[in-house]
Amino acid sequence: MKIAVIGTGYVGLVAGACFAENGNDVVCVDRDEAKLRLLRRGRIPIFEPGLEELVRRNRAEKRLVFTSQVATAVRASTIVFIAVGTPQGEDGSADLQHVLGVARDIARAMNGYKVIVDKSTVPVGTAERVREIVRRETTHPFSVVSNPEFLKQGAAVEDFMKPDRVIVGAEDPRATQLMTELYAPFTRTGAPIMVMDCASAEMSKYAANALLATKISFMNEIARVCELYGADVEQVRRAVGSDRRIGSAFLFPGVGFGGSCFPKDVQAILKFAADKEYAFQILGAVDRVNRDQKALLVSKMEKHFGSLAGRTIAVWGLSFKPKTDDMREAPSIAIIEKLLAAGARVRAYDPEAMKIAKGIFGNRITLVARNYDALIGADALALVTEWNEFREPDFAKMRKLMRSPVLFDGRNIYNREQMKADGFTYYAIGR
Ligand SMILES: NC(=O)c1ccc[n+]([C@@H]2O[C@H](COP(=O)([O-])OP(=O)(O)OC[C@H]3O[C@@H](n4cnc5c(N)ncnc54)[C@H](O)[C@@H]3O)[C@@H](O)[C@H]2O)c1
Repeated sequence: MKIAVIGTGYVGLVAGACFAENGNDVVCVDRDEAKLRLLRRGRIPIFEPGLEELVRRNRAEKRLVFTSQVATAVRASTIVFIAVGTPQGEDGSADLQHVLGVARDIARAMNGYKVIVDKSTVPVGTAERVREIVRRETTHPFSVVSNPEFLKQGAAVEDFMKPDRVIVGAEDPRATQLMTELYAPFTRTGAPIMVMDCASAEMSKYAANALLATKISFMNEIARVCELYGADVEQVRRAVGSDRRIGSAFLFPGVGFGGSCFPKDVQAILKFAADKEYAFQILGAVDRVNRDQKALLVSKMEKHFGSLAGRTIAVWGLSFKPKTDDMREAPSIAIIEKLLAAGARVRAYDPEAMKIAKGIFGNRITLVARNYDALIGADALALVTEWNEFREPDFAKMRKLMRSPVLFDGRNIYNREQMKADGFTYYAIGR
């Protein structure tokens, strides 16, 4: 099939490369020329396991091309995906200016029937708005489809290639048929393609993200109560997660959720529910708990040290989760800003997010090239993102490098008894 993907970010680039991998001809569009130059050299602008190889192979096979011209891409394609960003607007709502702007550009370029697919995460009712915009701009026939994306950064290629399910919000048989054909190779192992109305498809994406965010905030509150009563949240987590009705995923207490999706998607539901005069009570609490959680590690440090002024704190892990370089809404940002405001010096390291961190913090913190370098002269280490390379460090070496062996484990990855045996003062979450 001939496909255009507009917006070549974490979602658009993965979708484009994976569609090409299954034999489709894909044109990926972005307005960011620097990004396009990099892609045309066979390099990818983000860290995402397996993606660079996929992009290189499909470019070499000429199934994947990159352009800044929406019109050229639309004319060459039958299915046109919108995968641009929907950041949080000032009032909390999803900012749809990019999605609606692209819809207009697509409509103006149309030269025949097109399926226009919303892949960006968009509030309920957006497919209808896209339909109206396109209808105003063209006399060519078209369908609008809602096809929300569920990939996880860090395992995006795998998730896209082997999805749990594919959601297709489509309201006519022609579009349903084309979408079903397009996704058939991805669902051969039995994952269902669920066809529904556009509003339900749009809502499904928000409901899934909101429920995952709720699980995290819920466990963070359980961890708070565990601390008050001397229970160990890690034992509790295992006990609860083994219940098949609940499942073990997303029950890990920590420093709060971040990333480009959960925080903004929670805000977006709160807003679009409120627009219809419904106050979504649980999600209001999920958001408040998450904000508090991002302050927890620094409160623990203040309690330990009294004042943080003049202290040097090492930070391991800056990306919002392992296996990505993405720092959008990363808890590390809130933590480091709090440390700096309290007068501490920060020495930080991340396996992939150093360039992005440099852009965020400039010279306000010291970014070091190797994980152990962060520890030199440090009064404490804060483990913020649980990259694999931090899981089994050389504690004896760490103790030698640090001014004092104090460890604040924001992800509960270390063994309390072993930390004690290795001579560390150890703080974790809910234990
Ligand atoms: N990142 C994820 O893990 C994830 C997962 C599922 C869904 N989503 C949703 O997918 C959408 C995209 O997210 P992302 O993380 O890929 O964003 P992103 O910021 O990484 O990528 C968006 C891209 O769109 C480009 N763009 C913006 N306006 C454009 C225009 N008018 N013409 C051409 N290109 C334009 C930007 O330059 C950028 O490269 C969002 O709605 C997000 O909520 C993201």
